[in-house]
Amino acid sequence: MTMNFDGRVAIVTGAGGGLGRCHAMELAARGAKVIVNDLGGAMDGTGGSSEAAVRVVDEIKAAGGQAIANGGSVSDVQGAKSMIQDAMNAWGRVDILINNAGILRDKSFTKMTVEDFRAVLEVHLIGSMYCTKEAWPIMREQNYGRIVMTTSPSGLYGNFGQTNYGAAKLSLVGFMNSLKIEGARNNIFTNAIAPVAATRMTENLMPAEALKRFGPELVTPAVIYLCSEQAPNGVIVQAAGGHYSVACIVESPGIDLGTDATAEDIANSYAKIIDLAGAKPRNMLQLSQQ
Ligand code: NAI
Repeated sequence: MTMNFDGRVAIVTGAGGGLGRCHAMELAARGAKVIVNDLGGAMDGTGGSSEAAVRVVDEIKAAGGQAIANGGSVSDVQGAKSMIQDAMNAWGRVDILINNAGILRDKSFTKMTVEDFRAVLEVHLIGSMYCTKEAWPIMREQNYGRIVMTTSPSGLYGNFGQTNYGAAKLSLVGFMNSLKIEGARNNIFTNAIAPVAATRMTENLMPAEALKRFGPELVTPAVIYLCSEQAPNGVIVQAAGGHYSVACIVESPGIDLGTDATAEDIANSYAKIIDLAGAKPRNMLQLSQQ
């Protein structure tokens, strides 16, 4: 069965290059009408022009697809409103929102300024929230919506120099966990992608050999699935160089120590508390297909 997006309208933020460009191109190739948003700034979030988005729109049109460029910033409420408005004015609906825009300001926590921390949260968390907030009432009205958050292994597992980025990326999982519940009865499903890909964000972090193996186009199939009609709800899919897996938060079966447990009891039972034999993911139900 071929996945077709004819009649669907998608917004992909940060789609002027890297992963977002691949997602936008593939959605358009499969029939979706796409708003290609990108602020076109530097990797740390400074500067900006709509050129990057325009270039991707030209590529989509040259391949026979339909797209509109939007140069707004996701971390500015007016920017978020403008991309939803562009979609509504041109095509009258918003079916898919891929929150992909992102910046980096890597530094050890010792050297990181509060501004570096705040700027990264503003783009990833607040930016995803602004865009989702604008799309949400439209998706509810349509009784259909697919939202993809872009999380990261750095948020799920940690990485030196990325306290701001890791906090921002895992906050999107928390955002998704409640959205998946609130959207379900209106057929609005929210999922997260945790990619590894060779883009400008990672070109200085990965060795040249690894860069060759981790093309961003190898992440896009998972994103396309997560914004399709068959999408699950509330799942974190990891995609890296053609390998696909799911990340879950699990709980150990634990031990009942009663109401008068002491810190010493915790220490004595610690091996049992952390024993993951028989552990189950809390989001098991949502992992299965709808
Ligand atoms: P990229 O730097 O090529 O793409 C990010 C895009 O977001 C850029 O085109 C940039 O101009 C745009 N952008 C930044 N701030 C914006 C704003 N305020 N409004 C609108 N657009 C804005 O990097 P890449 O790798 O394609 O990143 C895409 C997403 O994937 C990001 O959220 C990133 O954190 C995430 N990610 C990437 C990984 C990788 O291995 N490349 C790993 C894990 C997560």
